[in-house]
Parts: sequence; structure tokens; C-alpha cells
Amino acid sequence: MAEFFRLDGKVAVVTGGGQGIGEAICRRLAGAGAKVGVLDLSQANASRVAADIGGVALVGDITKETDLSRLFGELEARFGSADILVNNAGVASRKGRDLPIWELVREDWEFVFNINVVGLALCCKAVLPKMIERRFGRIVNIASIAGKEGNPKMGPYSASKAAVIALTKSLSKELVGKGDICVNSISPAVIQTPILEQLSSEQINMMLSKIPLGRTGKPEEVASLVHFLSSSECSFTTGQCYDISGGRATY
Ligand SMILES: NC(=O)c1ccc[n+]([C@@H]2O[C@H](COP(=O)([O-])OP(=O)(O)OC[C@H]3O[C@@H](n4cnc5c(N)ncnc54)[C@H](O)[C@@H]3O)[C@@H](O)[C@H]2O)c1
Repeated sequence: MAEFFRLDGKVAVVTGGGQGIGEAICRRLAGAGAKVGVLDLSQANASRVAADIGGVALVGDITKETDLSRLFGELEARFGSADILVNNAGVASRKGRDLPIWELVREDWEFVFNINVVGLALCCKAVLPKMIERRFGRIVNIASIAGKEGNPKMGPYSASKAAVIALTKSLSKELVGKGDICVNSISPAVIQTPILEQLSSEQINMMLSKIPLGRTGKPEEVASLVHFLSSSECSFTTGQCYDISGGRATY
């Protein structure tokens, strides 16, 4: 039987690839044949995952353009330029700052938007000139159900993920006529990863209570959807936001 969704010969970068959902995505894409750059703030985690999958650890901060030019240079020297970018690095809030909007300060907004939106856009900018030159690319942006529904006490996070969904749509339209380049986003509900340590148990229980399937999702379930969206077979879908929320989203 023919094998589908193979990624042999493709080079992928996964931001926040050192743990959680990003780690599962790295493992899945490498399992399908891709050469993977594991980009993360954490040297230990990026190196651990890269060593396991025969990838390259790219250690740095997605909000810093100097880091990004160094990291994408390292990727190119080792494997070539990126065919696939998975923008997964993200934060829920500053620790202990899941508060109503009237109690937030400017730094709460800037912290979340700088990573979830500005850093993500800078990563797109880092890979797109080469994708356009080679007329091929896949970008998958990890948004959130919070970006569709707006979770209470998660104002900056919800707004940042709505921005990711809209940015995906804008970018997909800007790329029309520039080759086989597709840009999509996904919106997970609660997935069991260390990001939940940034939130109170009350907040997590509220989010869990809204999931009809009655459980948290697994990073591997997210990775399988990202795998399809990263593949050459996903060639007639762009600008979309795919749901992976155990039934929470009805649109
Ligand atoms: N876990 C969930 O319930 C859930 C639900 C919906 C969406 N998401 C989204 O999925 C993505 C991954 O979440 P996760 O749960 O695996 O989180 P996580 O906290 O377990 O992992 C995030 C990774 O991103 C890295 N990172 C953070 N800031 C960075 C930066 N500036 N530069 C480079 N790396 C950075 C961290 O070091 C970490 O390894 C995030 O965008 C998150 O918003 C998660």
C-alpha cells in the first residue's frame, strides 16, 4: 500500500519544540521523514529532543531577530532552508497573572503578545523569502480555542490567539500566486502539557468543563493534525483554522 503524508527530503522547524505539543510535533514530523530543527529557549530540552530524532537543536528566543537570523543560518548550514515552519512556541500568561482585564498591567499584555504574535510573525518573515523563491512551503500556526471564544481571565492570551488566526488568513492571501505555499492555523482546547502550570487549577477546571469529550487532549493528537497540514497533500487548503477541541468549538 502507498504511504501517505511522507516528508522525506523536507526540512521542518518547530518553535517551542523542546517540550509539550512542540516536542510531539517534532517527533511526528521526524517519524515521517523530515529533518527537524528543534527551536526552543531551553538548551537542555531542544538538545534532548533533537538528539532523539536526529534533528538539530536551535537554541534561542523567537522574539529576538538577531537570534532568528543566527538560528535559521544554523538550520540552513546543517539541513538547508525550511520547507515547513510550525509556529508552536507560546505562553498563556505571566505566572499567576490569569486575572480579569481591569486588573492587568501593560507588561501582562506585552509579555504575551511579544511571544505569541510578534515572535510568530518574525519566524514567518525568517522563512518566507526562501519559500517564495522555491515556490513551496507549509506554515502551521498553533492558535487556541481561546482565540475563537475568549476565555475569561485569559484576555491577553485569547486576544493573541485571535490575532494568530487573523494573521494566518492575511498571510495566506498575501501568498496567492507565489507557488504551492499554504498557511493554516489550529485551535486546540486543553492539552496536557507543562503550559498548564502557568494557570490556576480553577482556570483549568473551567476550561475542561467545556469539552464535550470530557478529557484533555494529548500532544500526539495535535501532532497528527499538524502532520497533515505540513504535508504536500495539504495543497488546496490555506488560511483555515482547524479545530482540535474535543467538540468544544461548534464552528
Ligand atoms: N496545552 C494547551 O492546553 C494548549 C491549548 C491551546 C493552545 N496551546 C498552544 O500550543 C502551543 C504549545 O503549548 P504547550 O502546551 O506545549 O506549551 P509548553 O509551555 O509546554 O511549551 C512551550 C515551549 O515554547 C518554548 N518557548 C516559549 N517562549 C519561547 C520563545 N520566546 N522562544 C523560543 N521558545 C519559546 C518554551 O521553552 C517551551 O518549550 C502554544 O502556542 C500554546 O499557546 C496549548
